[in-house]
Amino acid sequence: MLFPINLISLHTNKTKLAEEKHNRRNFIKLAGAGILLGTAFLWEKLVRSQKLLSQIQSITIPFNPNQEFTFHRDVIVANKNNNIVVYSSKCTHLGCTIGHAVNGELVCPCHGSKFDIEGNPLNGPAVRPLKKLAFQLDKNKQQITIDL
Ligand code: FES
Repeated sequence: MLFPINLISLHTNKTKLAEEKHNRRNFIKLAGAGILLGTAFLWEKLVRSQKLLSQIQSITIPFNPNQEFTFHRDVIVANKNNNIVVYSSKCTHLGCTIGHAVNGELVCPCHGSKFDIEGNPLNGPAVRPLKKLAFQLDKNKQQITIDL
């Protein structure tokens, strides 16, 4: 009589194990689906924020054709005989912001590097020219849009 009871017990244990295995598989499937959905959601947010970031990476500032230099935060607009060039105002030595010119030369306030109107270093410690930036000039509105 003991033998059939053990068989029933063994069968019941097998069934429970099979159910647990099935539940574990379902849980893993659901967790995997959740991770995929979460990753897709985060990816979409990241892409959207990158688009917003690229949209704000240009600025539009007033343009005065009578000024040799216009300084605006991160940019310098240089105008030599209506030949316009826009530079990053970041000094190529250690990155200080160049915000003024003396006698037609751009002067870095940190270590005294000077640059000519073409952005070339005249005296160091900077040895590289200023970085040129792409821009669009709207002469009618007297505005210049600069890609940062
Ligand atoms: S950062 Fe401009 S000269 Fe050093």
